[in-house]
Amino acid sequence: MISGLVATAAASALPRPLHAQTEAAETLTARAATARIAPADYPDTAVWSYNGAVPGAPIRLRQGERLRRLFRNDLDQPGTVHWHGIRIDNAMDGVPGLTQSVVAPGDSYLYDFELPDAGTYWFHPHNRAWEQMARGLSGALIVEETNGAPEVALDEVLLIDDWRLSEDGQIAGGFNDMHDWAHAGRIGNWVTVNGTGGWRRMVARNARVRLRLINAANARIFNVAAQGLEGWIVALDGMPLDAPRRFDQLTLAPAQRADLVVDVTATVDEKAYLVGLEGNSGYALATFDVDGEAHAERLPAPNALPANPVSALGAVNEARRIELRMEGGAMGSMRGATMSGRMMGMSELVNAGKVWAFNGMADMPDNPLFEARAGETVKVAIVNDTAWPHAMHLHGHHFRQVLRDGTTGPLRDTLLMDRDESVEIAFVADNPGDWLLHCHMLEHSAGGMMTWLRVT
Ligand code: C2O
Ligand code: CU
Repeated sequence: MISGLVATAAASALPRPLHAQTEAAETLTARAATARIAPADYPDTAVWSYNGAVPGAPIRLRQGERLRRLFRNDLDQPGTVHWHGIRIDNAMDGVPGLTQSVVAPGDSYLYDFELPDAGTYWFHPHNRAWEQMARGLSGALIVEETNGAPEVALDEVLLIDDWRLSEDGQIAGGFNDMHDWAHAGRIGNWVTVNGTGGWRRMVARNARVRLRLINAANARIFNVAAQGLEGWIVALDGMPLDAPRRFDQLTLAPAQRADLVVDVTATVDEKAYLVGLEGNSGYALATFDVDGEAHAERLPAPNALPANPVSALGAVNEARRIELRMEGGAMGSMRGATMSGRMMGMSELVNAGKVWAFNGMADMPDNPLFEARAGETVKVAIVNDTAWPHAMHLHGHHFRQVLRDGTTGPLRDTLLMDRDESVEIAFVADNPGDWLLHCHMLEHSAGGMMTWLRVT
């Protein structure tokens, strides 16, 4: 046991999993269940759950610890678990056909890996994700700082989801609706936070609260504001900002996270809200009832969270630049694309369930978009030649957007791109293995917006 740990620590920055040790791993079972997610007058909803809960119970560990979960698939279709945003050992990344084989119904797979970074992450299936996540499979993975965390009265995960419910409060079918796939994706009609439409907590005036927002929706982009809460964004996609940024409104694309540190400025007996903005109006995502006073005055501004051990970018202007052109979708100009190397017209593509393409390819290519030497700084120039926004997600690494003036943005693992927008991202390819790069609007990735790269 002890010699095993020493060997692991010495091996490399990202240790190999200890496949032999299957004892004492907690089980994470994907299975059917019912949950109270619909509005009050509706019956319970049949869902797919982790260990019976929707969303799955948050997994909380500390930076540097190992996560060990025996994933058991009790669904009637194959599955995997992807640990979104974690700079993980490639074999643990949960991508069927790329990093592991699918876990068949009744089978299990041991996920066992180190958590190099503190922050707010999450987990979800990566097989038929557009259906499995719409049916409820997702959960928060919180990696606590070993030191330097802000002192807060409450530290709450707010996992935001968007459900498409039918008249009887059940999850609507139509997962393969090509109209959704070619437009904004499967947009729902009911929003929950931690599985409820009425999430609320009691807080004291001037109390400081950490809110960990996770957008677990298939495709909906949330615009979030607050009322009676004032504070800062301290981290995006798990990674601390160099300096806390004043929070007044933020956009959260599918799969993105934001850590807020906010003070309750509403007065006693008032309410404070986290608000989802929709056009000119808003709705309560989270409600805080204010009772009592924590301190007479507001606390001083928080410090930045301690940085995670991410490699610093090399010279960005000298870095190799790879182009990725996104095409397709409704109101696009795509006339055809290849599948398995064969050119297909639009109707043939639609029949094959493909409505988008990356660099003219509508299916996951056999060859990587590019290969990088471990440690190389690379740039990917992404051109959104479509009429839709997309949320581009890179596995196994965090990247920075290269801004027009040559400076770089914050570390992220998912970037929202506007229609017709072009962006450049740069990252240090320092995690060996095969990694996906895809749109996190799940109907878009299934419909053709998926590629991969290799770090050797
Ligand atoms: Cu959140 Cu490819 O995943
Ligand atoms: Cu997309």
